[in-house]
Amino acid sequence: MTKILNFGSLNIDYTYSVDHFVRGGETLSSDELHIYPGGKGLNQSVALSKSGAEVWHAGAVGDGDGDFLVDILKEAGVHTDWLCYTEGKTGHAIIQRAADGGNCILLYGGANQKITRDMADKALENFGEGDYLVLQNEISEIGYIMEKAHERGMKIVLNPSPMNEKILTYPLEYTDYFLVNEVEAEDICGEPGEGDALLEKMADRFPGAKIVLTLGSKGSLYWNGREILEQSIYPVKTVDTTAAGDTFTGFFIGGLVQGLDERAALDLAAKAASIAVSRPGAASSIPSREEIN
Ligand code: RIB
Repeated sequence: MTKILNFGSLNIDYTYSVDHFVRGGETLSSDELHIYPGGKGLNQSVALSKSGAEVWHAGAVGDGDGDFLVDILKEAGVHTDWLCYTEGKTGHAIIQRAADGGNCILLYGGANQKITRDMADKALENFGEGDYLVLQNEISEIGYIMEKAHERGMKIVLNPSPMNEKILTYPLEYTDYFLVNEVEAEDICGEPGEGDALLEKMADRFPGAKIVLTLGSKGSLYWNGREILEQSIYPVKTVDTTAAGDTFTGFFIGGLVQGLDERAALDLAAKAASIAVSRPGAASSIPSREEIN
């Protein structure tokens, strides 16, 4: 089976329930705190593995506080051979979760920002032509990892989230699959847009890439190099939107790697993401393939 290397973040998510997001200068009390395993990288590895794909997670946690995140990956069937322990703290996220399930997130990179070129080389040397590399934007050395993966003939999947100016310094032309929301697509294209028109701008800019444009409650659009496919969401009562996008990414790529056609992979991803938003937490909200069936 095609191998997948996900080089990505692992975070401890401190999720506070609030009735509104805290404003500048305001002190807000929350009477509910949950601590969940998270990080876009970890969430996507869990989703990839739960889709049935074989995935290795490379990344880093701190030397005193990250064991439970490694255990979560192992429990989900993710290989952790190239996970490193670094001095200092594991990455974490402070998440405010509102009553409608929406959130806002403050990130502390910690060990995720201590990825070195040496760590990257050690993981990448185990993968080659046709294997997949999955990346988000929460670790250091992403540009280098993309260069080296491209040299090895790997297929590169990029979810440029959270968006920041560093994204534009990466060799984006090596990307085989983008998974972007509208804000990310606008920032990458350098101009405003929405829906089909925005997707076409991305496709013009990256003619070799396949692109998923997620549209929140309006579902998603997918450019496969020939045509645009549309995918709706499966409506559910929203409890927590954290990791919905990560679940979609993991199941879509995992589905493709296992031989599903594009429409079936999109549908599987939409179902998985709907289940994830219907329950609390990040990685803990991601369903199994059996549950989706
Ligand atoms: O995509 C959701 C994730 O973003 C959370 O788990 C949090 O850790 C942040 O990385």
